[in-house]
Amino acid sequence: MQRLRPDLDPLRETLLLTLYARALDSKLPHPILGDADSAALADTIDYDFARLKLKPSLICGTALRAKKLDDAVRGFVAAHPRAVVLDLGCGLDTRVLRCDPPAGVDWYDIDFPDVVALRTQLLPDRSERLGVDLTEPGWLDPLPRDRPAMIVAEGLLPFLSGDTFQRMTRELTAHFDTGELAINGYTRFAAWSMKYHPAIKAIGITAAQGFDDPRTPETWNAGLTLVEEQLLTRAPEVADFPQPLRAATRLISHSAALSRQGTRILRYRF
Ligand SMILES: C[S@@+](CC[C@H](N)C(=O)[O-])C[C@H]1O[C@@H](n2cnc3c(N)ncnc32)[C@H](O)[C@@H]1O
Repeated sequence: MQRLRPDLDPLRETLLLTLYARALDSKLPHPILGDADSAALADTIDYDFARLKLKPSLICGTALRAKKLDDAVRGFVAAHPRAVVLDLGCGLDTRVLRCDPPAGVDWYDIDFPDVVALRTQLLPDRSERLGVDLTEPGWLDPLPRDRPAMIVAEGLLPFLSGDTFQRMTRELTAHFDTGELAINGYTRFAAWSMKYHPAIKAIGITAAQGFDDPRTPETWNAGLTLVEEQLLTRAPEVADFPQPLRAATRLISHSAALSRQGTRILRYRF
């Protein structure tokens, strides 16, 4: 099989890390997400995934946050069958295949133009694709305004510099009448320490963003109200984590402060 060699800068290359984490999860004896499409997709890419040296914590954490964000999307779409779904910084995530939205839903996979072009080469045509820089104004203009919007952004927050994530959020909530924003949160410490993570180091990312208090986005003047903060150390799926990760995660789960440094899902309505 001829495999495709992507030409990606470090910011875009992070999408291979999350893809590979989901691929490896699907091969575990007890997968958390079980996304065989991600494994098949990773096999079509000519990239030295081994250099990322992904540890079980990153594999299981990535799979679990994807699963929880999928659940948020599925729940929203079930309640709003004419919803618009936006997957911001979608990379090569197969979320649209996993969630399999009904026909009345319009799903937009959004990332830089070259990433969207790669997506088009590698993945079936199940969604609208928008190739844009999310920090540039105007990209929302062609999207409908009057339908409930489910906005999901996985692994995106730390890579938007300065206040660009906040600005983008204000533009999104001004554009759509109503909806939900679901993200995986990063504390300031988690974002700061990210550059020392071997996988991120291997890619060459040096700066990342985060916030500690889950209510911080309520102060962004974007009309957001926190619906839920899920600390994933406390998720039932931890029972399927391999040891010793399972034991360590359960230990950490007793402390909300420590759990917050790990993976958490934040959901806001507007
Ligand atoms: C860590 S990857 C996550 C990809 C995907 N959400 C996943 O979970 O596999 C971050 C993604 O954000 C995208 N991204 C970062 N900054 C962006 C921007 N300004 N505009 C559009 N996409 C951006 C990158 O290209 C990359 O695909």
